Amino acid sequence: MSDDIAFEQISYSGQVVVVTGAASGIGRAAAELIATRGAKVICVDLNQSGADETVASILKVGGKAESAVLDISDQKKISDLVSSINNKDKRIDALINCAGYPGPTGKFVEDINWDDFQKVIAVNLFGAIWLTQAVLPIMKRQKYGRIVQVASIAGKEGNPKMAPYNTAKSGLIGFVKGVAKEIATDGITINALAPAVIATPINVNTAKETLDYMISKIPAGRLGEPSEVAEIIAFMGSKACSFTTGFTFDISGGRATY
Ligand SMILES: NC(=O)c1ccc[n+]([C@@H]2O[C@H](COP(=O)([O-])OP(=O)(O)OC[C@H]3O[C@@H](n4cnc5c(N)ncnc54)[C@H](O)[C@@H]3O)[C@@H](O)[C@H]2O)c1
Repeated sequence: MSDDIAFEQISYSGQVVVVTGAASGIGRAAAELIATRGAKVICVDLNQSGADETVASILKVGGKAESAVLDISDQKKISDLVSSINNKDKRIDALINCAGYPGPTGKFVEDINWDDFQKVIAVNLFGAIWLTQAVLPIMKRQKYGRIVQVASIAGKEGNPKMAPYNTAKSGLIGFVKGVAKEIATDGITINALAPAVIATPINVNTAKETLDYMISKIPAGRLGEPSEVAEIIAFMGSKACSFTTGFTFDISGGRATY
């Protein structure tokens, strides 16, 4: 294979990529990396100023990006945003869904307030489902698409005292497995990613006992970096990821070897 053909597989030149959670952490790192590989990146987040900062950092190095404010637990607003991107840009090549939050930690399941439980499911699971439903008709029309759902090691193994998050992320892994088979002949792949603890602001409010437990489980003996996660996401969202679908990729410093 020539270098040009190999490069073409990981290039995002001419593509429009939607990255949620792009204001911070993994989403920001993924948006910036994918922009350097040629995509126009739509940086979506609840946090407008953070999304604008990501856009500014992409524009500063000559990339293409726009921001959009969205709460991914709002189905109607997801549908409106995806329609407006499609009307303007006429395509969506990849959806990289990094928006999420842990919700209650350090609490036994029976002590978790039901509103808090439902909110975690609404953002981390329903939001992911609604985003997928919104982009699939566009990707089917294009006969091309890549969907990356950032789940968590919590969805594969379960972390104690994080019941809502475990439930949402494991639901997301199951969602990806079945949908992948529905669209396997449409030129679209959908995969999940299960990071262990990554050094981002998401862990700021996590109970110390929960965080210590999660870090102690990582054989590499350190937290992952957002830039390391961005590399695997950039592969999963590219043309190169053409024969793997329904899978949950690992990025856990050796915690999960399956
Ligand atoms: N950092 C970790 O240790 C870790 C481990 C496993 C999985 N994850 C997952 O990775 C993803 C990214 O997390 P991160 O570590 O970069 O955290 P982060 O807090 O740095 O970034 C998450 C982003 O999602 C946004 N967000 C939260 N709720 C939203 C909503 N309802 N609508 C739109 N945007 C919303 C936040 O504003 C924030 O910018 C999350 O899905 C998280 O569950 C993180």
